[in-house]
Amino acid sequence: MTRKNQLAGDAHWWRNAVVYQIYPRSFADANGDGIGDLAGIISRVDYLANLGIDAVWMSPFYPSALADGGYDVDDYMDIDPRIGTLDQFDELVQRLHEKSIRVFVDVVPNHSSDRHEWFKQALAAAPGSPERERYIFRDGRGENGELPPSDLASHFGPEGWTRVPDGQWYMHLFTKEQPDFNWDNPQVEEYFLKTLRFWSDRGVDGFRIDVAHALKKNLSPLPDRDSYALSVMKDDGTDPLFDRDEVHEVYRGWRKVFNEYDPPRVAVAEAWVHPHRRPPYASEEGLGQAFNFDLLASGWDAAQFKSVISDNLAMSVETGSSSTWVLSNHDVIRHATRFAIPGYGLSPDSFDLENQWYVQHRMDHDLDLAAGLARAKAATLLMFALPGSSYIYQGEELGLHDVVDIPSDQMQDPQWFRGEGKFKSRDGCRVPLPWESSGSSFGFGPGGSHLPQPEWYANVAVAVQEGDSKSTLSLYRQALKLRRELYQSDELEWLDLGPGVLGFRRSADWICVTNFSHEPVEIASKVLISSTEIVDGLLQPNSTAWLSSL
Ligand code: NOJ
Ligand code: CA
Repeated sequence: MTRKNQLAGDAHWWRNAVVYQIYPRSFADANGDGIGDLAGIISRVDYLANLGIDAVWMSPFYPSALADGGYDVDDYMDIDPRIGTLDQFDELVQRLHEKSIRVFVDVVPNHSSDRHEWFKQALAAAPGSPERERYIFRDGRGENGELPPSDLASHFGPEGWTRVPDGQWYMHLFTKEQPDFNWDNPQVEEYFLKTLRFWSDRGVDGFRIDVAHALKKNLSPLPDRDSYALSVMKDDGTDPLFDRDEVHEVYRGWRKVFNEYDPPRVAVAEAWVHPHRRPPYASEEGLGQAFNFDLLASGWDAAQFKSVISDNLAMSVETGSSSTWVLSNHDVIRHATRFAIPGYGLSPDSFDLENQWYVQHRMDHDLDLAAGLARAKAATLLMFALPGSSYIYQGEELGLHDVVDIPSDQMQDPQWFRGEGKFKSRDGCRVPLPWESSGSSFGFGPGGSHLPQPEWYANVAVAVQEGDSKSTLSLYRQALKLRRELYQSDELEWLDLGPGVLGFRRSADWICVTNFSHEPVEIASKVLISSTEIVDGLLQPNSTAWLSSL
């Protein structure tokens, strides 16, 4: 049965939506087992409504052994019993819709988990069987097939092939618990259409598509690859593993399903592709929107911000979609900490720098955390002034830093364990949220916390910030309220305010100025909101203000 969506009618709601990402296991825990759950989210619906967001996106809540934080899905049409039930999911959607908050769920189509029914059937069946054809099984090389079919590394290292007892190997771009689907098999295609309908029928408004650029592959010859850096990926649609032109046929089929609903369901692609290859993912015939992670890779630098913004706005004109903006998510160091890393973003490959810093210095305290937080608030206020939609990540509204001193034996992220020390752990941004300044898990729940919380959480908990009009939480709330009032069109006009100062006008009563320089800047117009206090008419370094010329 298809449930009536209470928010039917507005087909364009997503164009400038502010979407709040919930990492369900770390948001709020109602039953005290240390793992966040749907009942916990339900208990915090008022908090989400007061924040002033338009939608939530929930990272995977499906049954999973958590080999990769839930991105290893056992069953795409169910909820992990530790997280809740389908009835609770329905209740959550209804409660959010009552507050006019839409709901995105995460779809992981490139791979399932090795506990998925189909993979179990594939293992039980013989080589060459139809059951194996839903995944990518091959014979090995060497006299007895003892060598992997090709020299393929996985994203998280080390190898991208794993051998099964009868001697065949299966391919996995991520962990060995995440076998890749064979997207040339129509059964796989049908299965995902069914999945999209399953959630759409339950009233879900949109989908975030995991590694949307990886589904279609050219496996003859089998690719060898030891790096997944963007610089290695071909940018003309002929790369054997990623961003092949055929992937858009899949999304054209998905679009037909989205358009069966009122309002049409929407989707946003997680596609780490060359920027000029992004438009088709965001097109109206495709998923409709694509993440642009360019701000994530930018250093604290006016010129970089300006070129990222103008390039992406130009691209949104080309696609007819709106641009997306992201500063933090569950895969990267929180932006308050990132902007405290000396030199971040100023090298050609920022992600390398991030990894290097994390691996070499994570126990050091040589960061200017206060400057990092000031820059993060300024960057967020700038982002909220941009045309398009902003995706924010739970906890950034509290100005949280990454937790950099989680003991290795308490980490969970496969990227840390399998990367042989080459990649950072993503656990630092996945630590359960602090709601209260005391208690066994800072109000996360009545019990403990599945990742250790730091002592400094006491100072940044929701309860502390709620009563403080100058807190980061208050800044987010006030900014999102103002944004609703001020946002009238997608127009943006750059202002020339000198080196290190970035300014643009959205309308006569909405000007945004960010001071990236080391000197204070004089402000002549009326200040609507600012990320740090304006003293004597001066906008301090590492700060943003919204002004009105009226
Ligand atoms: C991207 C997700 O954001 C990340 O958390 C996950 O590890 C990979 N895709 C694999 O699903
Ligand atoms: Ca729980």
